[in-house]
Amino acid sequence: MSRLVVISNRVAIPTARGAAGAQGGLAGALNAALKDAGGLWFGWSGKESEQPSTEPHLIEADGVTMATIDLTPQDVAEYYYGYANSTLWPLFHYRMDLTEYERLTAIGYERVNERFADSVAPLIAADDQIWVHDYHLIPLGDALRRRRCRNRMGFFLHIPWPPTQLFVSLPYHQRLVRSLLSYDVIGFQCDEWLDSFLDYCRTELGADVDPSTNRISIDGRSVIAKAYPIGIDFDHFTSQGRTGEARQTAQRVLSSTRRRTAMIGVDRLDYSKGLPERLDGISRFFERHPDRVRDLVFIQIAPPSREDIDSYQQIRALLEQKAGQINGAHSSIDLVPVRYVNQGHSPAELYGAFHACKIGLVTPLRDGMNLVAKEYVAAQDPADPGVLILSRFAGAAQQLKGALLVNPHSPDDIAHNIRLALDMPLDERKARWKPMFECVRDENVQTWTRDILADLSAAPSGASKGLTAVH
Ligand code: G6P
Repeated sequence: MSRLVVISNRVAIPTARGAAGAQGGLAGALNAALKDAGGLWFGWSGKESEQPSTEPHLIEADGVTMATIDLTPQDVAEYYYGYANSTLWPLFHYRMDLTEYERLTAIGYERVNERFADSVAPLIAADDQIWVHDYHLIPLGDALRRRRCRNRMGFFLHIPWPPTQLFVSLPYHQRLVRSLLSYDVIGFQCDEWLDSFLDYCRTELGADVDPSTNRISIDGRSVIAKAYPIGIDFDHFTSQGRTGEARQTAQRVLSSTRRRTAMIGVDRLDYSKGLPERLDGISRFFERHPDRVRDLVFIQIAPPSREDIDSYQQIRALLEQKAGQINGAHSSIDLVPVRYVNQGHSPAELYGAFHACKIGLVTPLRDGMNLVAKEYVAAQDPADPGVLILSRFAGAAQQLKGALLVNPHSPDDIAHNIRLALDMPLDERKARWKPMFECVRDENVQTWTRDILADLSAAPSGASKGLTAVH
């Protein structure tokens, strides 16, 4: 059996707190797949050094080799904070207004991808399967092909792919997509992002797209592009519900909210998550229904993220201001309607909090998938499930049809759906929740990994292709 090589910007190194297999989510699932195939996981160490070695630092754990390299401060500024998170991230989340294009960061992005290729190429054996993750590493496949790497290579994009008319605002957009087409299998979270990508290939590159086989034919070669909706590690996450930590957290939420309905949001502090818009919706609900201020407590967990970038600092300041305004207008001696928490929480704590909250509010302006929505569904009590309010612009909305779907830009729509959720009878809550729960249980991160790797194994070997990206 061939070995699996996973390459991503971040690598989940097992810590003393949890061995590789005990981790949840993507990290746990990838570790499990790597363990089955006796694999290697390569990425950035998360550290900066002035003169990093191209020789990766190796750690063996549970039959998996973790290989990491440091980056220079200039690399981190140009590749991670720059092109990846100030150009591609906003553009792919439909935020042309926040998209910066700097030639220097574009060069830094390609330079770091070349450095990744230099460091990982010597570790790759002839029959390894390679699986690259996310927007940081789009050109890596092409960089490896130029180093005579003929292995089967898959790529999965965890974020949306924007419509063609937005995407072509990126200078040198063809260069990026042609390098992406060096992979054998390209995965997207849902049909909407896949369709945008196929449209681009057809209209801008003149590629031939066969919808029955998901094949793109271009320059004498063919690539599979398909939607593979990512799921959660259902067994691992639901097992958290049996821990004391989960039970204590649920108890803390319940005893501190007493007879009020608790509503929860959990998001990285990122402008794509629609957090100020969410608070506007909550504010609208309280303005419209002053008699119901005592019925609802909103808990927003929002750990800070990418704090060196201006737009992230601004969103943090805006949220503090908006949460303060709502609490100023609607608090009383014994009641604060919005609890805004800037810290991360463990999976067990999140399970407990989701379980205790009767409304889950997940309203990104644009999101590749959104696993918080799936975790919220997984953590509900079957006898008394809560209601999920979900943005129609999250990839998850294509699967979780039992949610109340909202337009996250509309405070009125959010307010209206909060009222529907608060008043929803038990029968309707159960009827909406059950198919969502089955979907989250059955279409999980293990089936996702299996489906992608099966398509990758079936792809014609990269050895048969003469590959050159057109620059
Ligand atoms: C998104 C991206 C991931 C990224 C994560 C956290 O989910 O798709 O690739 O790792 O955000 O962001 P960070 O910049 O902290 O890695």
